[in-house]
Amino acid sequence: MKTKFDVKKIKDIKADVVTSVSFEDQVEQKLQWLNTLYKGNLETLIETNDFKGTANSAVISYINGETKCKRLLLAGLGLSKEVTLNKLRNAYAYAAKKASSLKLSSAAFEIPDLALIKNIINVSYYELMQAICEGVLLTQYNTKKYYTKPDFHAFDEVIFFTDSPKYTHEASEALKESKITCDAVLMARDLENEPSNILYPEKFAEFVKKSSVKAGYQVTVYDEKKISQLNMGCVLAVGKGSHNPPKFLILQYFGSNKSEKPVVLVGKGVTFDSGGISLKPAPGMDAMKMDMGGAAAVVGAFEAAARLKLKTNIIGLIPAVENMPSGHSYKPGDVINSYSGKSIEVDNTDAEGRLILADALEYAANYKPKIVIDICTLTGAAVVCFGHLLAGLMGNDKELVSKIYDAGEKTSERVWELPLYDEYDKLMKSEIADIKNAGPARQAGTILGGIFLKKFVDEKFPWAHLDIASVAFNVAESQEEYQQPGATGFGVRLFVEILKHYSH
Ligand code: BES
Ligand code: MN
Ligand code: ZN
Repeated sequence: MKTKFDVKKIKDIKADVVTSVSFEDQVEQKLQWLNTLYKGNLETLIETNDFKGTANSAVISYINGETKCKRLLLAGLGLSKEVTLNKLRNAYAYAAKKASSLKLSSAAFEIPDLALIKNIINVSYYELMQAICEGVLLTQYNTKKYYTKPDFHAFDEVIFFTDSPKYTHEASEALKESKITCDAVLMARDLENEPSNILYPEKFAEFVKKSSVKAGYQVTVYDEKKISQLNMGCVLAVGKGSHNPPKFLILQYFGSNKSEKPVVLVGKGVTFDSGGISLKPAPGMDAMKMDMGGAAAVVGAFEAAARLKLKTNIIGLIPAVENMPSGHSYKPGDVINSYSGKSIEVDNTDAEGRLILADALEYAANYKPKIVIDICTLTGAAVVCFGHLLAGLMGNDKELVSKIYDAGEKTSERVWELPLYDEYDKLMKSEIADIKNAGPARQAGTILGGIFLKKFVDEKFPWAHLDIASVAFNVAESQEEYQQPGATGFGVRLFVEILKHYSH
């Protein structure tokens, strides 16, 4: 898909459909203006009052006579005084989906008066344009890949236009960078949505390896033998029950001097989580093909960082496993050892994510990181806590936590901090090992996930933990217009925003 920013008058835009946007409180003037411009073509629309400019609304109008574009899509932005970046993102997504449903080749989207919006909310032209582009580009995703008859057609060309030359530089930069980031989000969604019979650890590793060459970062893949030699006892134990052996991926991107400490991103890569011997109930188990949403977010972040040529060093650590019950499986009551030798009593084989992350977090210390952030679909309790609106954020460093919070607000990949008070430690105490992997049921489930991980983090570096079980995939009632059923790709835009802070 090609994208283009144009400084042009609406009547000079050549596309299969052209979208004009309006705030609810300015809709009359806008329609009058368009009606004059299009020689009375909007007369009936004005008469019927069918387009009111409300947020997430769109009406299509057909233009007679001499015109470069026959389809005029009117899209509502809601009340101007209530505008936010995420409302723009949603309004453009709504319009883009409406335009998409016509299955056309090219679509153009009008940029509203950004100076006016800038007076209402304190954001830059870049950020406004970014939200608009993201809204459109994130809708261009095919959830029906496995339909044998195609049911989706992405635009071949998308044009963003305005007749004002005022923000050409910021707008074209924002478009270029948003395209890169949104492509990375869509790649993360693809990885997550892929069924586990097709995407298991080996295939995941192959995919990332292939993709890294094009994007410009490096990937090393450790196989089961190497994982065993390194004493990553947790990855090994969790992977044992499956016919598909575990892999451990190391992603490297050097955008800065090699001597500079890296940002380390750790992603949970459970390509299918059946629960293992502590088997999950059948309803909803299919969603556990997306239990590698954390890993997908890390891959997406690397794709974007490399293509954006961010000036920072990044290491990605992804333990990839399939958690399955079999005669080879690890079992409740087993005692296993993490990479650095800590002993863990397996209380519940369904608390597998924290186990594989324990190895990876300990391994992270080898890089003397500037910061470490892990991201994982760790606890069902995150849904109980936040619904599907927010991800859980925990950590050992106020500054890092607040940086991530700010990035969440900006990207609308929102996060909320939960405490890791030491008093919780006793809930994870084992009679037979240093720690056990699960606490009592229905008590602070999400926090206890963080409490467990904290034991494997070197206190010398700032660390944050993102539990995205609540937001990694979608249930219909909480969908943003720019998301579809299934994977959201949550974390990619958040990471890009955070990484930009470390880029210099
Ligand atoms: N992958 C699940 C968590 C999950 C649940 C993610 C629902 C997304 C939606 C994780 O491995 C898990 O099973 N966690 C257990 C932990 C418990 C046994 C301590 C859980 O949440 O029940
Ligand atoms: Mn589990
Ligand atoms: Zn899991």
